[in-house]
Amino acid sequence: MPNNLDPYESDTSYFHRMIESAYADYITVISPCLSERALYLPVCYRETPFYPQMEACVREFFQCAKFKKCLDCGCGVGRLSLFTANCGIDVIAIDKSRTLIDFCNKLLVTQGATEVEIPSIHTGRSAILTIPQDFSGTGAVFQVGSADDIQYPDEEFDCIISSNVIDRVTDPLLVVQEMNRVLKYGGRILLSSPLDWRTQFTPDVSLWQDSLTALSDYVGWHVIHNIPCLEYKLRLSDRAAVHYKCEVIVAEKS
Ligand SMILES: C[S@@+](CC[C@H](N)C(=O)[O-])C[C@H]1O[C@@H](n2cnc3c(N)ncnc32)[C@H](O)[C@@H]1O
Repeated sequence: MPNNLDPYESDTSYFHRMIESAYADYITVISPCLSERALYLPVCYRETPFYPQMEACVREFFQCAKFKKCLDCGCGVGRLSLFTANCGIDVIAIDKSRTLIDFCNKLLVTQGATEVEIPSIHTGRSAILTIPQDFSGTGAVFQVGSADDIQYPDEEFDCIISSNVIDRVTDPLLVVQEMNRVLKYGGRILLSSPLDWRTQFTPDVSLWQDSLTALSDYVGWHVIHNIPCLEYKLRLSDRAAVHYKCEVIVAEKS
């Protein structure tokens, strides 16, 4: 797919909605005349435990001395990368979108209040995104990079996170092979996906998978934890959101 058709690059509302979704707990709506309408957005996201649950998985399955270096593959706006880095793990976070990586690097530099204009909240209203100092992400490095051609040597990483990326790539099998290549033996991977396959992203329908377990089987990972259905919300408009049901697995390369 040519880059200019990629919504993550060409549609700025996508970018804003990803920020809202990922940092809902940190967003404050500032408004001269705050209406119920303006409040819907943060309330809607705060009901969704997606990122806190993913963070609980990082804490439970990655936070031990043997996991020192992590790859966040398709890091988006960087919430899980920053969280993981704050757990004391070195994180290399890659995403193919320059816009998103620039945003993540801005978060690293400011280490505090970052003003984000959310244009779809109507005139006179804006949202202020605040990353607390203790969420500063020291130890995270954000780079433009592609999941289907990871520019790191074999067995470079002790653990990998890839959250809601696998159904947004051209060839999911190639991407799991790449992640498998750069993961050490005994290493762990935290994978989530709504398995929301679309020809826009994955034109070859024969590559669409029924489950993350099927993808794990393909590369021989051993699934050690499985959350069959974790809700993830993405806003469509001020009063509408898509509710995805994500599968989440933690698997081991043995
Ligand atoms: C739904 S977002 C998820 C972002 C983040 N992981 C999260 O959970 O908040 C999908 C991300 O995958 C990225 N992406 C899609 N295809 C990619 C590829 N081939 N290589 C690297 N990143 C990719 C997009 O740019 C986007 O940031």
